[in-house]
Amino acid sequence: MEKIIVYGGKPLVGELESDGAKNSVLPIMAALILNDSGEDIVIENAPDIRDVRVMCKILMSLGVKVTDRGGGCLVFNTANITTSSIPHSLSREMRSSVFIMGPLLARLGRVQVCGPGGCAIGSRPIDLHLRGLKALGARIEEKGEYISAVSPLLRGAEIHLDLPSVGATENVMMAAVGARGETLIKNAAREPEIVDLQTFLNYLGADIRGAGTSTIRIKGPGLLRGGSYRVIPDRIVAGTLLMAAGITGGSILLRNVIPRHLEAVTAKLREAGMDIEEGESWLRARGRPLKGLQKVRTQAYPGFPTDLQAPMMALLTLARGRSSIYEEIFDGRLKHVEELRKMGARISVEGSRADITGVEGLLPGKVVKATDLRAGAALVLAALAVKGQTEVMNPEHIDRGYHHLEEKLASLGAEVMRVRAL
Ligand code: EPZ
Repeated sequence: MEKIIVYGGKPLVGELESDGAKNSVLPIMAALILNDSGEDIVIENAPDIRDVRVMCKILMSLGVKVTDRGGGCLVFNTANITTSSIPHSLSREMRSSVFIMGPLLARLGRVQVCGPGGCAIGSRPIDLHLRGLKALGARIEEKGEYISAVSPLLRGAEIHLDLPSVGATENVMMAAVGARGETLIKNAAREPEIVDLQTFLNYLGADIRGAGTSTIRIKGPGLLRGGSYRVIPDRIVAGTLLMAAGITGGSILLRNVIPRHLEAVTAKLREAGMDIEEGESWLRARGRPLKGLQKVRTQAYPGFPTDLQAPMMALLTLARGRSSIYEEIFDGRLKHVEELRKMGARISVEGSRADITGVEGLLPGKVVKATDLRAGAALVLAALAVKGQTEVMNPEHIDRGYHHLEEKLASLGAEVMRVRAL
């Protein structure tokens, strides 16, 4: 058991390079399964985070050779895929294991996973994934917690997603690469990570158009080859760090980011009173004093991202006046409210809406617990603003999506460390 101890109250100042995007590298790693050329694929700028390590274990359990060259460079050889199901423990460990369904179905004609189950942020069904795969010709069987899909031959189809699900869009896109004929995905999600997946797959020989819009066309089957690919920067880690500058009244320069991927975030931070400058591949943020925001609504991209709802809430607990945050994507993503309240935040929740009244300062000496990776990051941010000590338990949640967050913050002058919790 570990915990992160923060001694806050100091403005964060300095420069940081961005990390590669977790939500881009995970589907790209699943898409590797489509490559039966026997040639290596090199992925660069892979973030060194727990979810990437779990996805490597999943791929290795399927027979993929994985070599870690260090510095975010991973080499994969997918010549021999030896099985179509992954160990139960790995499937349960990470919802993104569902991403292997589309590629394995396209590669082997069959796949078995165990349902990803719910998690700390809500029920998280995969009905849209399954409906999309069925439309391509898969026969789906759900037995207990196992889901299997079989399809001797996948055929292109027109698929209309009930809602712009990121994962369902990606899963269907990957399966459609192996389907005969043209597939249209309507009401597709438009996240930058989906564009990254399209760019990666086309680089390897697929023929996909339209990612980033709500209609994606995939012409299959695409014969994939080897190559090397650099993953885009992580807009959620970048947004979290901008908010760290805001909540501490500091000044942070982030390099190697893509500012337009954060437009909804920087717009809200400016509205809250932060001074944000941007260049081609950098963002500078200066913090406080902050003013409350009447409405922050989480939306599918290009709206305000649900993954930054918790860090934004931490920021607004110290903004002058009242704010309202509406979590409209997940049905259970307000668990950090309780923990922020322990620190003296004034927040009331009505359904999916959280109303925040800014306070002068948060309380020292509290022990709070991370319930999911973004909630954990939000608690660390809040602790950075506390004049005194805060302990954040269960930092393993944070490690799923942030590489050594405490080291990043310490490099900006924060007094923060990770210790073994007795
Ligand atoms: C991706 O999750 C991200 N994960 C999430 O990031 C992110 O919060 C989410 O997209 C929204 O942007 C990865 O990319 C690995 P969805 P995903 O399908 O694909 C419902 C983080 O913190 N839904 O777009 O699971 C679902 O319940 C993580 O980095 C269905 O009803 O999200 C949710 O309410 C957390 N049926 C909404 O759609 C389905 O079949 C959006 O989910 C699929 C989803």
